[in-house]
Amino acid sequence: MGTKSWDLGINEELEKVERRMKELVSSSQRLLTDISLHVIDAGGKRLRPTLSILSHHALHGNDLVRLIDISAAMELIHSATLVHDDINDGAEMRRGKKAAYRKYGLHEAIVTGDFLFARAFYIGGTFGKKIVELVAESTTHVAEGEMMQYAHRKDPKLSVDQYLKIIEGKTAYPIRTAAQLGVCLAEGSSEDLRNFGEYGLNLGIAFQIVDDILDINGNEQNLGKMIGSDLREGNLTLPVILARDHDKEIGKHIREFMKDEKPDEKKITDCLEMVRKSGAIKNSLEIAKGYAEGAKEYIEHVSASKYHERLMELTELVINRAT
Ligand code: IPE
Ligand code: IPE
Ligand code: MG
Ligand code: MG
Repeated sequence: MGTKSWDLGINEELEKVERRMKELVSSSQRLLTDISLHVIDAGGKRLRPTLSILSHHALHGNDLVRLIDISAAMELIHSATLVHDDINDGAEMRRGKKAAYRKYGLHEAIVTGDFLFARAFYIGGTFGKKIVELVAESTTHVAEGEMMQYAHRKDPKLSVDQYLKIIEGKTAYPIRTAAQLGVCLAEGSSEDLRNFGEYGLNLGIAFQIVDDILDINGNEQNLGKMIGSDLREGNLTLPVILARDHDKEIGKHIREFMKDEKPDEKKITDCLEMVRKSGAIKNSLEIAKGYAEGAKEYIEHVSASKYHERLMELTELVINRAT
């Protein structure tokens, strides 16, 4: 079973995005299509298309065909980064299914990631300069965030600020862009673009903090991916950083743990348990809530509509995943 999106009253549009994505991955090389469909059919929350669609409607946009196209392109880029991310992270599962490289092989998955990017550019390139720039910039930020994360792999001293910079790049920028794409196509003002961008960026930071909390105390069945993967890979996340900084014993333990190039499962489980007991999960969630509240403030003034309400509601749904 794959993972599912939230019900925010835009199922019809999300269905169209789904169909567009599937159309776009058709290829004379059967395996490219099969692997792409393996990833697409596994589902996912469709957070990025959801944001583009809601933002577009919140500003009374009426460019539906292009909205579906650009949403499909962004989600294909997201899917490409996930296919590659699972290789980089040695992940077993994605969206409740075998990670693509696990099922189809490493080379096949790498090429499929490239293919998904290429199919996204095929559509993305037909848009105006501003949209091309937004998508290219956010995809660049993902690469930079991922590279910075890798540079700090096994770094026991990673600071909260460094952590925030990493997650801003790898996760929050594309979420910012997704919201902005809806604005652009609705011909929103530059102020709208800024505000929805800040909304998306703050929501994206909250989203990744919650994802990192769930990697420590989540349910693998619901998440569709294994927990403990951040520590297993040597990546410090906010709850671990806070636990390290607020408790000397845990700090010592984590520094020792990070010296171990291939920690066994018992060491990982012990570390996770220590962080769970430390109170750092609650503190991390408070920080995530702060970003989610901050996100709301940027769009508070937008005229009332059911779409605006759903954008506000989404900030709660993102936080509620962790509670
Ligand atoms: C996974 O993204 C990678 C992160 C940024 C945490 P999502 O959690 O949005 O994954 P899907 O698309 O819903 O599967
Ligand atoms: C993935 O980040 C972010 C990208 C899409 C590049 P993570 O590695 O933290 O996400 P999960 O936990 O595998 O979904
Ligand atoms: Mg990963
Ligand atoms: Mg990763």
